[in-house]
Amino acid sequence: MDQTGALDALLQEERVFRPLPQLVIEANINPHQLEQAQRRAEQDPLAYWEDAAHELDWFKKWDRVLDDSNPPFYRWFPGARCNIVYNALDRHIETANKNKLALIWEGEPGDQRKYTYYELYREVNRFANALRTLGVAKGDRVVLYMPILPETAIAMLAVAKLGAIHSMVYGGFSAKVLRERVADAQAKVVITADGFYRNGRIINLKALVDEALAGAGAECVETCVVVHRVNVDTEMHEPRDLWYDDLVRQERPVCATEVMEATDPLFLLYSSGATGKPKGIVHAHGGYMVGIARTLDWVFDIKPTDIFWCTADAGWITGHSYVIYGPLVAGTTTVMYEGHPLYPQADRLWDVVARFGVTILYTSPTLVRMLMRFGVQYPRKKDLSTLRLLGSVGEPMNPEAWVWLYKYIGRSECPIMDTWWQTETGMFMISPLPISLLKPGSVNKPLPGIEADVVDAHGNPVPPGKGGFLVLKRPWPAMMTTIYKDPERYKKSYWEKIPGVYYAGDVARRDEDGYYWIQGRADDVMNIAGHRIGTAEVESALVAHRCVAEAAVIGIPDKIKGEVAKAFLVLHDGWQKEFETAEDLVAALRAHVRRELGPVAVVKSIEFRESLPHTRSGKIMRRILRAEELGQDAGDTSALEDPD
Ligand code: PRX
Repeated sequence: MDQTGALDALLQEERVFRPLPQLVIEANINPHQLEQAQRRAEQDPLAYWEDAAHELDWFKKWDRVLDDSNPPFYRWFPGARCNIVYNALDRHIETANKNKLALIWEGEPGDQRKYTYYELYREVNRFANALRTLGVAKGDRVVLYMPILPETAIAMLAVAKLGAIHSMVYGGFSAKVLRERVADAQAKVVITADGFYRNGRIINLKALVDEALAGAGAECVETCVVVHRVNVDTEMHEPRDLWYDDLVRQERPVCATEVMEATDPLFLLYSSGATGKPKGIVHAHGGYMVGIARTLDWVFDIKPTDIFWCTADAGWITGHSYVIYGPLVAGTTTVMYEGHPLYPQADRLWDVVARFGVTILYTSPTLVRMLMRFGVQYPRKKDLSTLRLLGSVGEPMNPEAWVWLYKYIGRSECPIMDTWWQTETGMFMISPLPISLLKPGSVNKPLPGIEADVVDAHGNPVPPGKGGFLVLKRPWPAMMTTIYKDPERYKKSYWEKIPGVYYAGDVARRDEDGYYWIQGRADDVMNIAGHRIGTAEVESALVAHRCVAEAAVIGIPDKIKGEVAKAFLVLHDGWQKEFETAEDLVAALRAHVRRELGPVAVVKSIEFRESLPHTRSGKIMRRILRAEELGQDAGDTSALEDPD
């Protein structure tokens, strides 16, 4: 059968995909244990999470597992003292993990660096000492604007080791976005690199940092630490800017790990919401480490010999939880790759898998769809036989991409863990385990200890097969603790839309077998290649352009990226004086959005209108534009009255 014929046959399959018997026998959690865990978690969820907490090291154990006296400000493991870095590094130095590879890094040009746990521990200690010399202490905010480098992991861990709070800003965001986040966090230090390699080019990151720090709001920054990665002329502003190498050279490789309350913040990560102002999602040391350790161990079935590669950028939650903290807490080997997945050609991913013997590959539907286009000749030329588990995250996985990944990358032997979760949840929430029966396109069922539901706008469960809002009905350890400096917004955005439950902002349905299918966002948040961008953010970038009077942005389906932005604009009179043709204006507007927000916000098309549809109170009705644009019914959404 040719490639398409085989795919067609599989796509018509209505059966579920079963794990191979050998895999079930060897899984960390077998079906019997899963059933037991589920029963225990249903009867006594706190005891279930307490068991998970006992698997980690604490300086002092908790007074109680959960303080729920002031919902929705749940406090996990109050009274306990810990530091996630102790679990990610320090404790491994006392065990056989000491000389095991913690981190394998590959640069786009092909250069490599590898760190054992002991080496990584020493590097983190040296940089932590350097940061302490710079005055960084418990509770201070440090912003990281970094490409994928070993120093990115080192910097995160060093900041956390001191009890300071890191806030990563994805390198695909603009200088302006960086400045806003630095200002909101009132960061004392910014850590960056001179540049990095991407698709054969050098991206000069430091220039963007200079632009960001020159603007109003960024005066809080005392020091900018620059990692040397590429050979470019880099302007260093004295006394603010310091080279990473100069800083760590004199430092000792020993550094005490700060003793933190379990509820103390570990990091802030800004994420887009339905308004133009991103939310600083806060995660704390104790609950977060318990949540990610348990879920990584169960879902990805970590074995001592694994080489774990999650292709996410460290600037997103997936990078935090499952490139850096999760794998290191688990004592496994994590892989980081700096560059573009198609550089120098479409086999780079498969090449990395083959050379390092990657056993678990966790990636995104966009990447799979992108690589599918190049056909199977690329993966066929590489030895992918070390792979034993695959994973997907960030956006709905269409069955066609699922089956391609399963068949051509996973040899029809490696189960795909399609994990549903969010920046806010910190950890996997709905996901299969390796022993689960899989349905392509479904994220399977809630993990033990997680109670999810699909409900209408009033919180009533909807019948199987019907679309509704995805909600979570019980707190979980790695949950966000609040929105930085805005607890009211935390309450309102997540816990009051549908009273008493956590509102995820996703539309989902559950089938007769209890399997969840994520259909997309329920709010005005786009998911462009798995990256969350608010329509309001793109709109405010557009109206900042002098020719634009009014803007409405919607997400429209895209074959590769899942979704892209389309803008409807009302122009000010007189734009023709500045631009000869409408095409010139469109090009200028695209460049403008890129400058305002960064390359991550892809505006695929722009349409000019005389006016936009409004509600009586003056809100733009994006819903009408979307319905018009798609010319179709968005599925069964009868349960979806806007809860606002
Ligand atoms: O819409 C869901 C989608 O990504 C959103 C969360 O985005 P973010 O906070 O950036 O975190 C992404 C990585 C965890 C969700 O509200 N999403 C995430 N995972 C899936 C998904 N949609 C479908 N299937 C998934 N597996």
